[in-house]
Amino acid sequence: MSTTIEPLPQPSGAGSPDDHGGYAARLLEVHKNYHLGEHVVRALRGVSIDFPHGDYVAIMGSSGSGKSTLLNLLGALDRPSSGEYILGGQYVSQLTDDDLSAIRNQLIGFIFQSYNLIPQYTVLENIQVPLNYRPGRRDISAEDTERCEFLAGQVGLADRLDHRPFQLSGGQQQRVAIARALVNNPEIILADEPTGNLDSTTEGEIMQLLGQLNEEGRTIIMVTHETSVARRAKRQIIMKDGLIASEGLFGVETEVK
Ligand SMILES: Nc1ncnc2c1ncn2[C@@H]1O[C@H](COP(=O)(O)OP(=O)(O)O)[C@@H](O)[C@H]1O
Ligand SMILES: [Mg+2]
Repeated sequence: MSTTIEPLPQPSGAGSPDDHGGYAARLLEVHKNYHLGEHVVRALRGVSIDFPHGDYVAIMGSSGSGKSTLLNLLGALDRPSSGEYILGGQYVSQLTDDDLSAIRNQLIGFIFQSYNLIPQYTVLENIQVPLNYRPGRRDISAEDTERCEFLAGQVGLADRLDHRPFQLSGGQQQRVAIARALVNNPEIILADEPTGNLDSTTEGEIMQLLGQLNEEGRTIIMVTHETSVARRAKRQIIMKDGLIASEGLFGVETEVK
């Protein structure tokens, strides 16, 4: 796909090197099709949405509505079938796979429902994992390790650095995953049901951490089924059949689930 693209409108104040036009991410008429033999699954059917810097969004919607597909595209783990994705001011369609990986590594931290920790690694080693994927594959330095220890402290695990995941509660494992997501100091945090496996007390603790990250200026986009979780975000988006059906929590208790 190589259509000519007009520059994005620049809001006032834009132009400094770290200001990507006021948006952390933008989707313009994005479609995503999956091909299964002769069948085409239209997982996203023309989604347009802007995420300003510092946004905090909860994405809701019933199973199969396209939430994970949307999050995968936002995380640049996959590319749109058509439409444009602008990440950090750059058109993803114009980037090579290597450039896209580099931008993903620099701009995005991921948090998953099932934590996705490496079982045989310690807490510290798990937090260090993204450093192995930095452009140039630099070795992990003493400063890197210091930063990882600092992040472990930030999520309340300073005294657990040598523990392995099986020695931790679910909430503690998710804290490790959050510290890991922060290693490269990303602007955007993407979370797919971050509290889906946690009890309500632990859910509250994790949501408090995410709230802090947002207050630090990070953009947070999370998928959740829980209205208690979605309410913590600044805005809520309800997906239906591959499209954004509505914004806000009004009526969601009856519509979703
Ligand atoms: N890798 C894939 N291959 C084929 N179909 C897929 C794939 N991933 C998702 N789908 C389909 O796309 C639609 C949206 O899925 P998904 O984004 O996972 O929804 P949600 O996260 O809201 O449950 C569903 O119909 C699903 O079956
Ligand atoms: Mg999903």
